Amino acid sequence: MNFPATRMRRLRRTEAMRSLVRETHLHPGALINPLFICPGEGIRKEITSMPGVFNLSVDEAVKEAEVCVGLGIGGLLLFGLPAEKDEQGSGAWDTDGIVQTALRAFKRNRALDSLVQIVDVCLCEYTSHGHCGVVARDGDHYEIENDSSIALLAKVAVSLAGAGADIVGPSDMLDGRVGAIREALDEGGHQQIPVMSYASKFSSAFYGPFREAADSAPQFGDRRSYQMDGANLREAMREIDQDIAEGADMLLMKPAMPYLDVVRAARERYDLPMGAYQVSGEYSMLHAAFQRGWLEPERTMMESLLSIRRAGADFIVTYFAKDAAKVLG
Ligand code: PBG
Repeated sequence: MNFPATRMRRLRRTEAMRSLVRETHLHPGALINPLFICPGEGIRKEITSMPGVFNLSVDEAVKEAEVCVGLGIGGLLLFGLPAEKDEQGSGAWDTDGIVQTALRAFKRNRALDSLVQIVDVCLCEYTSHGHCGVVARDGDHYEIENDSSIALLAKVAVSLAGAGADIVGPSDMLDGRVGAIREALDEGGHQQIPVMSYASKFSSAFYGPFREAADSAPQFGDRRSYQMDGANLREAMREIDQDIAEGADMLLMKPAMPYLDVVRAARERYDLPMGAYQVSGEYSMLHAAFQRGWLEPERTMMESLLSIRRAGADFIVTYFAKDAAKVLG
């Protein structure tokens, strides 16, 4: 089987040949486009650190969603920037909250039926302190309370399902939230709504630009007491085991490129549908290099997405969704 009997280059000679033997494919239906919805009308405000990504008012978000339909994109992941924040993040479960309002507008527009409406279930965009749960303070010391927070997250999930979300995606990384959400959804008559758990979410510096986009940076401390330590692969598997036991229907791995080994390990171990989130920092660093002319935009973008698919993700949440769908045509 050695050279010269075997010549690997025989199958690389032409694009037709390469296409025939290609092992991994991308398609627009497996891309999910995140949207950041803000109050107001006619608003389309670009995020400084994320070229091509905007805070959109509901009317503009509807237009953006129509563009996504035209490109064959599979779904949207919705984040909200509420007009006001408070200690508990009550805007997150407000019937007239920002994402609830957007969902109702999307659901009224039958042209958007081909998009799966996924919602991020978290409190950090809605709390005045920017943490993903309730903060208990004792002098200088603070704790993110677990069990009172997951009760609130369950309320958020029910509220969003009631407004028309197709899938709820808890991204907080508190313990027991998938079970709490599943139970609350079932009690609220939403037995058919799947939970996509951000089961393996690391405490990552790559979320930096998102926190500008969603105005959700913690006002003190960091998220290391709830998001995972980037050093731990075995712990990621235990997190996933727990979420499956609590009723998760799908998994989301995050970030993507710095954690492709974790994506691969999860793919080999679990049969649930699994996505990976190419997060804001992954997008921004590539764009920074594109702006300097240091990397070729289209090829680099497609290679970054292909690597995530090859690692085992069925679908990809990415700020490149529209650009990549255009290339895939
Ligand atoms: C909310 C949430 C975050 C992201 C998705 N959901 C921020 C965070 O955990 O700090 C990050 C997404 C990105 O960076 O693109 N908890």
